[in-house]
Amino acid sequence: MIEATDIDTSYGGIQVLWDLSFSVSEEEGVVAIVGPNGAGKSTLLRVLSGIQPIDDGELTLWGEDIESLQPSDVVDMGFVHVSEERNLFNEMTVEENLEMGAYKRRENMESNMQEVYDLFPILDERSSQTAGSLSGGEQQMLAIGRGLMAEPKILALDEPSEGLAPQITDRMFEKIEAISEDVTILLIEQHVNKALSLAETAYLLENGEFVAQDTGQGLLESQHIEDAYL
Ligand SMILES: Nc1ncnc2c1ncn2[C@@H]1O[C@H](COP(=O)(O)OP(=O)(O)O)[C@@H](O)[C@H]1O
Ligand SMILES: [Mg+2]
Repeated sequence: MIEATDIDTSYGGIQVLWDLSFSVSEEEGVVAIVGPNGAGKSTLLRVLSGIQPIDDGELTLWGEDIESLQPSDVVDMGFVHVSEERNLFNEMTVEENLEMGAYKRRENMESNMQEVYDLFPILDERSSQTAGSLSGGEQQMLAIGRGLMAEPKILALDEPSEGLAPQITDRMFEKIEAISEDVTILLIEQHVNKALSLAETAYLLENGEFVAQDTGQGLLESQHIEDAYL
Protein backbone atom coordinates (compact mmCIF):
# COMPACT_ATOMS: atom_id res chain seq x y z
CA MET A 1 0.00 0.00 0.00
CA ILE A 2 1.34 3.38 -1.05
CA GLU A 3 -0.04 6.46 0.65
CA ALA A 4 1.00 9.96 -0.35
CA THR A 5 -0.23 13.15 1.25
CA ASP A 6 0.59 16.57 -0.16
CA ILE A 7 3.98 15.59 -1.55
CA ASP A 8 6.22 18.13 -3.27
CA THR A 9 9.48 17.61 -5.10
CA SER A 10 11.90 19.76 -7.06
CA TYR A 11 15.00 19.61 -9.22
CA GLY A 12 17.66 22.14 -8.25
CA GLY A 13 15.15 24.46 -6.62
CA ILE A 14 12.57 24.22 -9.40
CA GLN A 15 9.43 22.60 -8.06
CA VAL A 16 7.89 19.98 -10.37
CA LEU A 17 5.33 18.16 -8.18
CA TRP A 18 2.81 20.07 -6.09
CA ASP A 19 0.74 18.73 -3.18
CA LEU A 20 0.10 15.30 -4.67
CA SER A 21 -2.16 13.09 -2.58
CA PHE A 22 -3.20 9.58 -3.59
CA SER A 23 -3.03 5.96 -2.59
CA VAL A 24 -2.52 2.68 -4.39
CA SER A 25 -3.30 -0.64 -2.75
CA GLU A 26 -2.47 -4.13 -3.91
CA GLU A 27 -6.22 -4.88 -4.03
CA GLU A 28 -6.43 -2.78 -7.20
CA GLY A 29 -5.94 -3.96 -10.78
CA VAL A 30 -4.74 -1.05 -12.90
CA VAL A 31 -4.25 2.51 -11.65
CA ALA A 32 -3.38 4.92 -14.46
CA ILE A 33 -1.64 8.26 -14.38
CA VAL A 34 -1.94 10.21 -17.60
CA GLY A 35 -0.92 13.70 -18.56
CA PRO A 36 1.05 15.69 -21.11
CA ASN A 37 4.80 15.46 -21.62
CA GLY A 38 6.71 17.14 -18.84
CA ALA A 39 3.79 16.94 -16.38
CA GLY A 40 5.90 15.07 -13.84
CA LYS A 41 4.73 11.48 -14.32
CA SER A 42 8.20 9.91 -14.42
CA THR A 43 9.31 12.11 -11.54
CA LEU A 44 6.44 10.77 -9.47
CA LEU A 45 7.60 7.19 -10.07
CA ARG A 46 11.14 8.17 -9.08
CA VAL A 47 9.75 9.62 -5.85
CA LEU A 48 7.84 6.40 -5.09
CA SER A 49 11.01 4.38 -5.80
CA GLY A 50 12.98 6.36 -3.23
CA ILE A 51 15.31 7.75 -5.91
CA GLN A 52 13.99 11.31 -5.91
CA PRO A 53 13.57 12.89 -2.45
CA ILE A 54 10.44 14.74 -1.40
CA ASP A 55 10.66 18.30 -0.11
CA ASP A 56 7.42 18.25 1.80
CA GLY A 57 4.42 16.04 2.54
CA GLU A 58 4.18 12.45 3.69
CA LEU A 59 4.85 9.27 1.76
CA THR A 60 4.60 5.79 3.21
CA LEU A 61 4.99 2.37 1.60
CA TRP A 62 3.33 -0.38 3.60
CA GLY A 63 3.45 1.93 6.58
CA GLU A 64 7.16 2.76 6.34
CA ASP A 65 8.21 6.35 5.78
CA ILE A 66 10.02 6.74 2.45
CA GLU A 67 12.73 8.79 4.13
CA SER A 68 13.82 5.71 6.07
CA LEU A 69 13.98 3.50 2.95
CA GLN A 70 16.71 2.89 0.39
CA PRO A 71 15.62 2.23 -3.21
CA SER A 72 16.51 -1.45 -2.74
CA ASP A 73 14.25 -1.62 0.36
CA VAL A 74 11.40 -0.29 -1.75
CA VAL A 75 11.89 -3.15 -4.22
CA ASP A 76 12.07 -5.69 -1.38
CA MET A 77 8.83 -4.37 0.09
CA GLY A 78 7.01 -4.91 -3.19
CA PHE A 79 7.14 -1.73 -5.27
CA VAL A 80 9.00 -2.31 -8.53
CA HIS A 81 9.44 0.40 -11.14
CA VAL A 82 10.16 -0.38 -14.80
CA SER A 83 11.59 2.94 -15.93
CA GLU A 84 11.29 4.61 -19.33
CA GLU A 85 14.94 3.87 -20.03
CA ARG A 86 14.37 0.12 -19.45
CA ASN A 87 17.98 -0.11 -18.15
CA LEU A 88 18.66 -3.58 -19.50
CA PHE A 89 22.13 -5.10 -19.41
CA ASN A 90 22.63 -5.11 -23.18
CA GLU A 91 25.68 -7.38 -23.21
CA MET A 92 23.99 -9.99 -21.03
CA THR A 93 21.54 -12.62 -22.23
CA VAL A 94 17.79 -12.50 -21.76
CA GLU A 95 18.06 -15.17 -19.09
CA GLU A 96 20.84 -13.34 -17.24
CA ASN A 97 18.78 -10.14 -17.27
CA LEU A 98 15.86 -12.03 -15.74
CA GLU A 99 18.18 -13.49 -13.09
CA MET A 100 19.31 -9.96 -12.20
CA GLY A 101 15.69 -9.10 -11.41
CA ALA A 102 15.57 -11.99 -8.96
CA TYR A 103 18.62 -11.05 -6.94
CA LYS A 104 16.58 -11.02 -3.73
CA ARG A 105 14.18 -13.78 -4.74
CA ARG A 106 16.52 -16.67 -5.50
CA GLU A 107 14.33 -19.35 -3.93
CA ASN A 108 11.49 -18.95 -6.47
CA MET A 109 13.68 -17.95 -9.38
CA GLU A 110 13.06 -20.97 -11.61
CA SER A 111 9.28 -20.92 -11.26
CA ASN A 112 9.12 -17.13 -11.64
CA MET A 113 11.21 -17.35 -14.79
CA GLN A 114 8.87 -19.99 -16.16
CA GLU A 115 5.93 -17.66 -15.49
CA VAL A 116 7.68 -14.85 -17.37
CA TYR A 117 8.36 -17.21 -20.28
CA ASP A 118 4.71 -18.34 -20.27
CA LEU A 119 3.63 -14.71 -20.40
CA PHE A 120 6.18 -13.74 -23.08
CA PRO A 121 7.06 -16.90 -25.07
CA ILE A 122 9.35 -14.91 -27.36
CA LEU A 123 11.68 -14.35 -24.38
CA ASP A 124 11.93 -18.10 -23.92
CA GLU A 125 12.88 -18.48 -27.58
CA ARG A 126 15.49 -15.75 -27.21
CA SER A 127 16.70 -16.72 -23.72
CA SER A 128 20.36 -17.10 -24.74
CA GLN A 129 20.49 -14.01 -26.98
CA THR A 130 21.86 -10.76 -25.65
CA ALA A 131 19.35 -8.12 -24.58
CA GLY A 132 20.96 -5.64 -26.95
CA SER A 133 20.05 -7.81 -29.94
CA LEU A 134 16.31 -7.77 -29.20
CA SER A 135 13.72 -5.59 -30.93
CA GLY A 136 12.22 -2.64 -29.04
CA GLY A 137 9.09 -4.60 -28.19
CA GLU A 138 11.09 -7.58 -26.96
CA GLN A 139 13.28 -5.31 -24.84
CA GLN A 140 10.17 -3.83 -23.25
CA MET A 141 8.88 -7.34 -22.52
CA LEU A 142 12.23 -8.20 -20.98
CA ALA A 143 12.19 -5.08 -18.81
CA ILE A 144 8.71 -5.99 -17.56
CA GLY A 145 9.73 -9.63 -17.11
CA ARG A 146 12.74 -8.59 -15.08
CA GLY A 147 10.46 -6.46 -12.91
CA LEU A 148 8.17 -9.43 -12.32
CA MET A 149 11.14 -11.55 -11.19
CA ALA A 150 11.29 -9.39 -8.06
CA GLU A 151 7.76 -10.55 -7.12
CA PRO A 152 6.19 -7.09 -6.93
CA LYS A 153 2.91 -6.36 -5.20
CA ILE A 154 2.72 -3.12 -7.18
CA LEU A 155 4.46 -2.89 -10.55
CA ALA A 156 4.91 0.60 -12.03
CA LEU A 157 5.30 0.79 -15.80
CA ASP A 158 6.54 4.06 -17.28
CA GLU A 159 5.25 4.30 -20.86
CA PRO A 160 5.58 0.63 -21.75
CA SER A 161 4.31 1.26 -25.28
CA GLU A 162 6.88 3.99 -25.99
CA GLY A 163 8.53 3.43 -29.35
CA LEU A 164 6.49 0.32 -30.20
CA ALA A 165 4.63 -0.23 -33.46
CA PRO A 166 0.82 -0.01 -33.16
CA GLN A 167 0.26 -3.77 -33.42
CA ILE A 168 2.88 -4.49 -30.79
CA THR A 169 1.34 -1.81 -28.59
CA ASP A 170 -2.03 -3.58 -28.70
CA ARG A 171 -0.40 -6.83 -27.66
CA MET A 172 1.51 -5.06 -24.90
CA PHE A 173 -1.77 -3.77 -23.46
CA GLU A 174 -3.19 -7.30 -23.52
CA LYS A 175 -0.18 -8.49 -21.53
CA ILE A 176 -0.54 -5.64 -19.05
CA GLU A 177 -4.17 -6.60 -18.52
CA ALA A 178 -3.14 -10.21 -17.94
CA ILE A 179 -0.44 -9.23 -15.43
CA SER A 180 -2.92 -7.04 -13.57
CA GLU A 181 -4.91 -10.13 -12.59
CA ASP A 182 -2.09 -11.02 -10.19
CA VAL A 183 -0.17 -7.80 -9.60
CA THR A 184 -1.38 -4.23 -9.18
CA ILE A 185 -0.18 -2.11 -12.08
CA LEU A 186 0.58 1.59 -11.76
CA LEU A 187 0.50 2.59 -15.41
CA ILE A 188 1.87 5.73 -17.00
CA GLU A 189 0.96 6.11 -20.64
CA GLN A 190 0.73 8.45 -23.60
CA HIS A 191 -1.88 6.13 -25.14
CA VAL A 192 -4.54 7.71 -22.98
CA ASN A 193 -7.53 5.85 -24.41
CA LYS A 194 -5.98 2.44 -23.93
CA ALA A 195 -4.65 3.18 -20.46
CA LEU A 196 -7.91 4.65 -19.19
CA SER A 197 -9.96 1.79 -20.65
CA LEU A 198 -7.96 -0.64 -18.51
CA ALA A 199 -7.82 1.42 -15.33
CA GLU A 200 -10.23 1.21 -12.42
CA THR A 201 -8.76 4.40 -10.98
CA ALA A 202 -7.11 7.16 -12.95
CA TYR A 203 -5.45 10.49 -12.35
CA LEU A 204 -4.72 13.34 -14.73
CA LEU A 205 -1.44 15.11 -13.95
CA GLU A 206 -0.78 18.54 -15.43
CA ASN A 207 2.15 20.79 -14.55
CA GLY A 208 2.90 18.70 -11.48
CA GLU A 209 -0.62 18.76 -10.04
CA PHE A 210 -3.49 16.30 -10.12
CA VAL A 211 -6.30 18.13 -11.87
CA ALA A 212 -8.75 15.22 -12.01
CA GLN A 213 -9.29 11.80 -10.46
CA ASP A 214 -12.01 9.37 -11.48
CA THR A 215 -12.59 5.84 -12.68
CA GLY A 216 -10.66 5.23 -15.89
CA GLN A 217 -13.87 5.31 -17.91
CA GLY A 218 -15.11 8.39 -16.09
CA LEU A 219 -11.92 10.29 -16.77
CA LEU A 220 -11.90 9.13 -20.39
CA GLU A 221 -15.35 10.62 -20.93
CA SER A 222 -14.64 13.82 -19.02
CA GLN A 223 -14.06 17.29 -20.34
CA HIS A 224 -10.69 17.28 -18.58
CA ILE A 225 -9.25 14.78 -21.04
CA GLU A 226 -10.65 16.65 -24.00
CA ASP A 227 -9.13 19.88 -22.69
CA ALA A 228 -5.78 18.29 -21.97
CA TYR A 229 -5.34 16.49 -25.27
CA LEU A 230 -7.10 18.56 -27.94
N1 LIG B 1 16.80 15.18 -13.84
C1 LIG B 1 16.12 16.32 -14.03
N2 LIG B 1 16.67 17.53 -13.75
C2 LIG B 1 15.99 18.68 -13.92
N3 LIG B 1 14.72 18.73 -14.37
C3 LIG B 1 14.12 17.57 -14.68
C4 LIG B 1 14.78 16.31 -14.53
N4 LIG B 1 13.92 15.33 -14.91
C5 LIG B 1 12.78 15.94 -15.29
N5 LIG B 1 12.89 17.29 -15.15
C6 LIG B 1 11.84 18.28 -15.42
O1 LIG B 1 10.75 17.98 -14.54
C7 LIG B 1 9.50 18.12 -15.22
C8 LIG B 1 8.76 16.80 -15.17
O2 LIG B 1 9.46 15.84 -15.96
P1 LIG B 1 9.01 14.31 -16.06
O3 LIG B 1 8.74 13.81 -14.70
O4 LIG B 1 10.01 13.60 -16.87
O5 LIG B 1 7.62 14.44 -16.86
P2 LIG B 1 6.78 13.35 -17.68
O6 LIG B 1 7.27 12.00 -17.31
O7 LIG B 1 5.35 13.60 -17.28
O8 LIG B 1 6.98 13.66 -19.13
C9 LIG B 1 9.84 18.60 -16.63
O9 LIG B 1 9.73 20.00 -16.63
C10 LIG B 1 11.28 18.15 -16.82
O10 LIG B 1 11.94 19.01 -17.71
MG1 LIG C 1 8.08 10.52 -18.47
